[in-house]
Amino acid sequence: MDTYTRLRELTGGLTAYLAVYGCQQNQADGDRLRGSLLAMGYRLTQDHTEADLLVLVTCAVRKHAETKLLGHLGEYLRTGKPGVKAVLCGCMAQREEVRELLRTSYRQVALTFGPADIGRFPEYMLTLLTEGGRRLYASPDTAPIGEDIPLARLPEDGRANVTIMTGCDNFCSYCIVPYVRGRERSRAPEAVLEEVRGLVAGGVREIWLLGQNVNSYRPDFSELLRACGSFDGDYTVRFMTSHPRDAGRRLFSAIAETPRVAPILHLPVQSGSNAVLKAMNRGYTREEYLEKIRLAKELIPRVALTSDVIVGFPGETERDFLDTLDLLKEVGFAKLFTFQYSPRSGTPAAELPQTLTPEEMKERFLRLLALQKEIERRGGVIPPAG
Ligand code: SAH
Ligand code: SF4
Ligand code: F3S
Repeated sequence: MDTYTRLRELTGGLTAYLAVYGCQQNQADGDRLRGSLLAMGYRLTQDHTEADLLVLVTCAVRKHAETKLLGHLGEYLRTGKPGVKAVLCGCMAQREEVRELLRTSYRQVALTFGPADIGRFPEYMLTLLTEGGRRLYASPDTAPIGEDIPLARLPEDGRANVTIMTGCDNFCSYCIVPYVRGRERSRAPEAVLEEVRGLVAGGVREIWLLGQNVNSYRPDFSELLRACGSFDGDYTVRFMTSHPRDAGRRLFSAIAETPRVAPILHLPVQSGSNAVLKAMNRGYTREEYLEKIRLAKELIPRVALTSDVIVGFPGETERDFLDTLDLLKEVGFAKLFTFQYSPRSGTPAAELPQTLTPEEMKERFLRLLALQKEIERRGGVIPPAG
């Protein structure tokens, strides 16, 4: 008897509640976990108080995300059914200090596993349901993206997430993602195209190709993008995220020359200061970044540019911060995602002394928000003074 058949015998009448936090990659993983739960025979509920099993897909990118998640977990457990069990998967599950905390302080968490182990969820659940006990696992960081995992998407306004690669080998000095998501792995182009073809045939209008750095997709992202936009149907293709170091003429031309690819480019700059970019290990200078923006504007008609910025990286001076503000004025991003630096243990930047007080950090953050609001109000670039 196969694992799913045995599980369906064990779960008859049982109910599960799935909550997904974090980035779109987690949303895409959530579709696989939802598919797996249904294949295991669970009935899904929107109400955690009637669930026998809670499944939380977690994010570790900033401390705030982790603190909030633990708050939700505590609340779910307090107000949940007596005897409810919790499964914690996603990026936090990869962190030893998180598993240690769960081991000692959250006894109803019966299972953890990392993002690379979704394919083993049924096997873990079978052990849990037949043998009981607690299993707090992390996952290997090189496991391939499972092609045979059942997928159950929510019919969200006709849009669908399609993971094309996972992991990150960039090791920006502040970032936990390479440690929790592991090494870069790509899906085969045939598998991606087959999935996109099926979604388009099923009437999906907006397809998001997802990866921590889609430019690291192998064999070739620009070609995949063109191919994803080549099916008959009324749909657009978008993608997230491309690293500025690897983005250039080939990618911009692919966007410009593929009508079904939306002319939107999310190119996270993080800082406008060369000293900070270097300390962040971003692999490009301010000038190189601006040159790519110039090229993108030249090649992609009416391109909408968006970005991410971190304020308060260790050692960021007022001058460095002003360089960031200047860059924002020069580019005129249509939308900006802004973050206060959050030290993540295990990353090189967490070893550096923090040079800003929380008040100074907040003050810079508010100036950044105010400037971006002004840029958006004026519909783009702010001309230099004088
Ligand atoms: N792979 C994507 C980003 C993933 S994380 C990329 O490289 O663009 C999303 C954003 O979170 C990052 O772009 C960065 O701006 C922010 N971020 C990552 N680690 C952070 C940290 N330790 N503190 C504050 N913001 C962080
Ligand atoms: Fe993190 Fe940098 Fe990788 Fe993005 S490219 S996920 S910021 S290490
Ligand atoms: Fe968070 Fe993991 Fe995404 S740390 S941002 S859920 S890759």
